Amino acid sequence: MKQDMSRPVIQALGEFKKRQPISFHVPGHKNGLLSTLPEEIRSALSYDVTELSGLDDLHEPAGMLRDAEQRLSDLYQSERSFFLVNGSTVGNLAMMFAVCSPGDTVIVQRNAHKSVFHAIELTGARPVFISPDWDEETQTIGTVCSLQIKKAIEMAPDAKAVVLTYPTYYGVAGNEMAAIIEQCHEQSIPVLVDEAHGAHLVVGGSFPPSALSLGADIVVHSAHKTLPAMTMASFLHVRSSLIDPRRVAHYLKMLQSSSPSYLLMASLDDARHYAASYLAEDHEVFLRERSAFIRGLCTISSVEVVEPDDPLKLLMRVEGYTGFALLEKLETEGIFVELADPFQVLIILPLLKKGTHFPFEESLVKIKTAVTLLKAEAMSDVAKPSALSTGEEIGMLAIFPADLNRLETEWVSIDSVIGRVAANSIIPYPPGIPLLLGGERINERHAEWLTQYMKMNAKFQGTIQTEQRKILVAIE
Ligand SMILES: Cc1ncc(COP(=O)(O)O)c(C=O)c1O
Repeated sequence: MKQDMSRPVIQALGEFKKRQPISFHVPGHKNGLLSTLPEEIRSALSYDVTELSGLDDLHEPAGMLRDAEQRLSDLYQSERSFFLVNGSTVGNLAMMFAVCSPGDTVIVQRNAHKSVFHAIELTGARPVFISPDWDEETQTIGTVCSLQIKKAIEMAPDAKAVVLTYPTYYGVAGNEMAAIIEQCHEQSIPVLVDEAHGAHLVVGGSFPPSALSLGADIVVHSAHKTLPAMTMASFLHVRSSLIDPRRVAHYLKMLQSSSPSYLLMASLDDARHYAASYLAEDHEVFLRERSAFIRGLCTISSVEVVEPDDPLKLLMRVEGYTGFALLEKLETEGIFVELADPFQVLIILPLLKKGTHFPFEESLVKIKTAVTLLKAEAMSDVAKPSALSTGEEIGMLAIFPADLNRLETEWVSIDSVIGRVAANSIIPYPPGIPLLLGGERINERHAEWLTQYMKMNAKFQGTIQTEQRKILVAIE
């Protein structure tokens, strides 16, 4: 990969600081002077500036930010790329607004992040959902296949977009993305991809290809998830003969703050530079360290490691125990993983470069202790639920959000909710993928999963009372 050593945002901020500026402008902390934050945090505030002369404007980039976004676009081979300061969340909202108006149909992969469902509600689009197959290896809902897309397009030939999540939170990428994009483009339907977990795919090697390189029209990346960027720092890329990037820019202007954080933009510039300067030898180091870590994990008795398509993700299981119980013990030893589910914990590895030390060996010692502590306890007595998705379903909401919001609601015990319509989404968090969508008719599998998640003390967002075992449903 071509090395690009320049970081225009960071350079411009450095030059600005050298001028020892006296602040008579926002933000009110005056280059950190008035801040009472701990020193480690306060010291960064001298870079937390605003649209001053020479520091450009994210919403009308013409200087260093245009340069930085151009370098981003060069790296990802897009037509236009944008810095996002409100996460992939704002990227998902903007991409949906760019393609659909109230009443338009969109085809959506059902195991999407809640921001995609929020975008549906805000745009007034009418979703046709595809529930992908259950992925046996990772015990999660996987990716859609081209046959499902074909059926969905037959059901909704007027669809304004196909909205996919790739790779999934758990690193499942499948191998049908290229065929799906081709199929959609044959019908002139744009493909919008929430690739929040795939900003690093651009480094190539053993990582799955980015959907952008496979021809997707819009791709959104949480740079902060897998590249070394600050939380919220994200990218959006457009390369399409079906969508004008100016439409995306138009909505980003409305949906993003008029005072985007220069710390976040500096961090985005840095993350882009990190990926752009990632070499084959860095990748070799990453793979070597990863293999040694996996070997170490596998020597711990009862531990099983699952390797999904994306080598940056690992799943760890301990036979007889839920992921929730494992997570608790890992945390007592100071090991913090991304999330737990009934089967396992999800580990996100560092995208290491040569010369960076990551405490893998120390982690193995702590993980071993955590597993020993776990196994000293009684095995988890909760039955693991059956597959959440059959992969057969292409369906619609029973009630669309605009109509749902007008209905009265009531709390109903989880034991008698089958057949009712959920008043709001119910979302285990993380991962933020709704188990149940507002407007969805509740089936046996939903009820089974909700019951099991509640028994395992999972954390939820949404209208659920875990102690009373009740959820809010619409009165039809
Ligand atoms: C698949 C997916 N899409 C979008 C998002 C939202 O990303 P952000 O936190 O960058 O707003 C997340 C966050 O977890 C996610 O997992």
